[in-house]
Amino acid sequence: MNFLSKSEYEASLAATRDERMTWWREARFGMFVHYGLYSVRGRMEWAMALENYDVADYEKYADKFAPKPGAAREWAALAKNAGCKYMVLTTRHHEGFSLWDSKVNPYNSVNYGPHRDIVKEFVDACREFRLGIGFYTSVMDWRHPDGRDCATDPEARKRYNDYLLALNTELLTNYGKIDILWYDVPAPLESYEGWDSLRRNQILRSIQPHIIINNRSLLDEDFGTPEGEIKPSERDWEACMTWNDLSWGYVDSAQAAPYGYNAQRILKMLWRVTASRGNLLLNIGPAPDGSVPAEAVGPLTKVGQWLEENGDAVYGLRDGSSDANFWIRGTTRRKNHVWVWNWIWPDDGEFTLGGYKTKLLEARLPATGESLPFEQDKARLTVKGLPKN
Ligand code: GLC
Repeated sequence: MNFLSKSEYEASLAATRDERMTWWREARFGMFVHYGLYSVRGRMEWAMALENYDVADYEKYADKFAPKPGAAREWAALAKNAGCKYMVLTTRHHEGFSLWDSKVNPYNSVNYGPHRDIVKEFVDACREFRLGIGFYTSVMDWRHPDGRDCATDPEARKRYNDYLLALNTELLTNYGKIDILWYDVPAPLESYEGWDSLRRNQILRSIQPHIIINNRSLLDEDFGTPEGEIKPSERDWEACMTWNDLSWGYVDSAQAAPYGYNAQRILKMLWRVTASRGNLLLNIGPAPDGSVPAEAVGPLTKVGQWLEENGDAVYGLRDGSSDANFWIRGTTRRKNHVWVWNWIWPDDGEFTLGGYKTKLLEARLPATGESLPFEQDKARLTVKGLPKN
């Protein structure tokens, strides 16, 4: 294979980016799924490090790993009901356990625990529910003997980079068309050269020519990944958010539930990413048996119902928009078509926008298409006749 230089590679990506990214840009809303041995431990996804297990000691969770049949289908059904258009699954997190039938990494869900290929079940479920398929793949690995030594020993770095290529080659070869490769935590090395990302990503793209890749193998690739905050940028970006501002992986305590989002807060995030031309990747951390967290089902289902009626205000919009009258409302826009999102629905049947100079042609209720009466003068626009809810 002839490898492009960094500048040639980036030029080639730029030339094909719109064609590759259009579905993703229009999709807008994805579901992140953090599921692995850490879900069994139940103290979030960094438990192996934060509780200082050694490799052999942590391995006991591999035998206890027991996803119930149909778990991945439950995730996909929830994602679909929530109005998500793609999902990203942690195929192997920092703990180094592969959720697929890996010939490269024997520490996997076919050799241990359920003796099943969870990645296959995930891919099948995504296809059944017509969701884009994303594979999260950790660069950092706390189990692999070279995962740490790669920082100081060139031989270890070569072996570990070969391992990373082999793992991701399996993932992108054995499960049909994959849409997103979602790298995470390029530690302990600090350069794309050290990780051999330029060569590996070109090889992986040759296997999956349409795939889109995030920026966490230390090359810019296709999109940025602000984490825990909605931070717009000029390039394509996707804000990844935990469910509770606390953890990506499951925490086995009912005390976590109160921190979760309600539908309104999720919609407010969805508005912000839409108005700023980005995506939202909202996480769930399934329980040890793979069940979706009960506290997430209600709000996500409600968001999906809202999107059923008002999805035109979110999906496919590529024009940025500003705050209509900040704080209590925001807008999204396609050319001269503006959606006004009233976070606090006026219960007197009307809302007013000050300083709205553009002559309004028509006001409509998105959910029904019904025309609404309005008044507009040089100072303000008032839309009337709103329904109670
Ligand atoms: C951080 C966390 C990692 C999590 C990732 C999700 O990198 O360390 O555990 O999977 O965020 O973006």
